[in-house]
Amino acid sequence: MKKIVFLFASLVFLYGAIAQDKPADTTYTLPDALISQSGKKITSAKDWETIRRPEVLKLFEENVQGKTPVKKIPLKFGRMSINATALNGTATRKQVRVYFSKDEKYYMDILLYLPNNIQKPAPVFLVLNFGGNQAIHADTGILISKQWFRYANAPAYVNHLSTEASRGIQSNDWPVEKILAAGYGLATIYYGDLQPDSAGSVDAGIAPLFYKAGQTKPADNEWGAIGVWAWGLSRAMDYLQSDKDVDAKKVAVVGHSRLGKTALWAGAQDKRFAIVISNNSGEGGAAITRRKYGETIAVMNKAFPHWFSANFKKYNDRENDLPVDFHELIALIAPRPVYVASASKDQWADPVGEYLSAYHATPVYALYGLKGLDTPVAPGVSLPVGDGSIGYHLREGEHAMRSYDWEQYIRFADRFFK
Ligand code: GCU
Repeated sequence: MKKIVFLFASLVFLYGAIAQDKPADTTYTLPDALISQSGKKITSAKDWETIRRPEVLKLFEENVQGKTPVKKIPLKFGRMSINATALNGTATRKQVRVYFSKDEKYYMDILLYLPNNIQKPAPVFLVLNFGGNQAIHADTGILISKQWFRYANAPAYVNHLSTEASRGIQSNDWPVEKILAAGYGLATIYYGDLQPDSAGSVDAGIAPLFYKAGQTKPADNEWGAIGVWAWGLSRAMDYLQSDKDVDAKKVAVVGHSRLGKTALWAGAQDKRFAIVISNNSGEGGAAITRRKYGETIAVMNKAFPHWFSANFKKYNDRENDLPVDFHELIALIAPRPVYVASASKDQWADPVGEYLSAYHATPVYALYGLKGLDTPVAPGVSLPVGDGSIGYHLREGEHAMRSYDWEQYIRFADRFFK
């Protein structure tokens, strides 16, 4: 048995290595963000907003992430706890349960830290997490999630449920004290509150709240888990707008990896997010898919069939037929500031492709008289670029969201929020 597992693991590793050694395809032609479907050249912010932006958004909805339901469901905010002297008095910690249904069966828990060192209302980073709210910090006041986890690494996660041992287990990615000291709040939610991250989990998440009579799964052009998670970010925004200690005009949405794909989609759809930050989001996030470098649409859709719409699978191994590429996902965020970050050892996410998306979104920012990135040549490690509305850096190291990344996000946000 061990041998078989080893063999399988080696094959997966080998496959990954081969996929990454394959050079990027550089012969592609990107869809032009500034030519409308009827062939009109878009030359003003007004035409972008009234003609082209709605088209591009619709193309993503129809072919990539799937449509988010328009139905509004009434929310109820239940305060679970508040502590004005959390983290040695440096923070106010609030925990709020957002109910999505009257029977209180569907909900998400927001953990919100606000800095005590500044006059509130505070600007806030809003970030979904992988390990449960309690995983981001060892603070014993954080309520432990009772949801299903895809992890089963004991002792922190046993039978896919989290234990006391999961407290702070992902704190390397969450420099909470640094964020607070910089004068920012941090709001976070376990993404599994919205939909478990497992194939075939649709019914376990909140999607069924939106089903028509007789519907059992999303239609081919309707949302997958990434759409559901993004919807949750917008509902968190609804809460933040109701909290007088939060400056809801200064909320930056951030996400790592699959949750970076999610943050970009949330930011593209919901203009209330004042800054959008993608950390190592890769395929289906910031990376140009036509480069076919590292992960591809087919590989991702096979491994994670529940993330995107069923329609997206039509583009498995057909990247060049996709009517959009991912620079246009970044462009949908204009004129709001956007930041893309990569890591040097994360070739799977195609750092160059992530940079190029940010670069190729520049002409849309230019319509607003805003500066993007000026060269198609991606910078080296630890050399953040972008003094306009688009920022980028390549961190040395693995696929993760580290202190270095957060330092750049704070620096970037300071330019717009302070
Ligand atoms: C896998 C997947 C990526 C994803 C990443 C993550 O590596 O292939 O698309 O971004 O997991 O979410 O950590």
